Amino acid sequence: MDLTFDVLKTSEAGGRRAVLGLPHGDVQTPVFMPVGTVASVKAVPQDVLEVNGANGKGAQIILANTYHLYLRPGHELVRRMGGVHQFMSWRRPMLTDSGGFQVFSLKGLRKISEEGVEFRSHLDGGKHFFSPEHSMGVQIALGADIMMAFDECVETPATWERTRESMGLTHRWAERSKAYFEEHKTEVPWFEARGGRTQSLFGIVQGGMYADLRKESAEKMVEIGFPGYAIGGLAVGEPREVTREMIARTLEHLPKDKPRYVMGVGYPDEIEEYARMGVDMMDCVLPTRAGRHGLLFARVDGRIERLNIKKKEFAEDQGPIDETCACMVCQRYTRAYLRHLYAAQEPLSAVLNSIHNLAFYLDTMERVRGDLA
Ligand code: GUN
Ligand code: ZN
Repeated sequence: MDLTFDVLKTSEAGGRRAVLGLPHGDVQTPVFMPVGTVASVKAVPQDVLEVNGANGKGAQIILANTYHLYLRPGHELVRRMGGVHQFMSWRRPMLTDSGGFQVFSLKGLRKISEEGVEFRSHLDGGKHFFSPEHSMGVQIALGADIMMAFDECVETPATWERTRESMGLTHRWAERSKAYFEEHKTEVPWFEARGGRTQSLFGIVQGGMYADLRKESAEKMVEIGFPGYAIGGLAVGEPREVTREMIARTLEHLPKDKPRYVMGVGYPDEIEEYARMGVDMMDCVLPTRAGRHGLLFARVDGRIERLNIKKKEFAEDQGPIDETCACMVCQRYTRAYLRHLYAAQEPLSAVLNSIHNLAFYLDTMERVRGDLA
């Protein structure tokens, strides 16, 4: 394990303010991690990511996806470029997802066995096979600070029996992931440059929408033993109250002295709520994806609203997206201009919208950290 986690303060509700120490730097938690699927946070340059948000400190850690980088440009190429940090010129911490979830969200050909998953590339239809060992090999070549165990995310809705069976596979794959990682962890591209430090492998709790299975899965992951734990299989179409309940029921069974990461959530009010419950890390494509679709998060009279910038009512609106936002977009550009960019399908529309939405998410976490301090 090559990670430190110092809890500075815990609230009555269980929310924690902590510092996560990684080979590429410290992360103040709770933290939101922008998603950079193919080693690019869509439409946002690294220079901007580094200074975005009200405090000007930018994103502390970003995500990339094993599945996508394996297919293109290929993890061996990334390894030859010195790892994903050097390749994309990102100096701060990174996390890679294992490819499990991405493969399972592929439609069409996909064959799951005890050994792993056979699937077809969304790029050219070519056949590929991912096993826990293979996912670890790819993630070590990429060299993110945190890598994720290879898991199966069960479809929803799923019966208790089906969910338990899938969870069992995830547990066996977690053991195989850890065994491979332990044997190969010194092969990370920056092992020597970082003084012999290594990546950290997180386990992923599954268990669908069943509290008893969530408990069983959390206990099994803790038994296998990881430096951090993720809660997966959520935000897959279930009602929001169920997501919250599953998070609460899982957190109960995870150690308080290890980072806890909920994968793939959520709206700004949700990430705030989960952070206050004791979730330390979250990621979501929502701020960037919504931005590209002209949907902008804003605080209006203290409430969080989603503005649809293409609406006629903004045509001559001289105000910023959000009066209370200190981001570089809100300091400079009007709603009228952003509406025009969107209507004209200018690439700058996606850039500016994504920067604002990401700032909104980063600022949300900054506020929670302030409250927990
Ligand atoms: N991203 C969102 N949910 C999941 C999950 O259940 N597993 C993995 N590996 N990634 C995710
Ligand atoms: Zn803004």
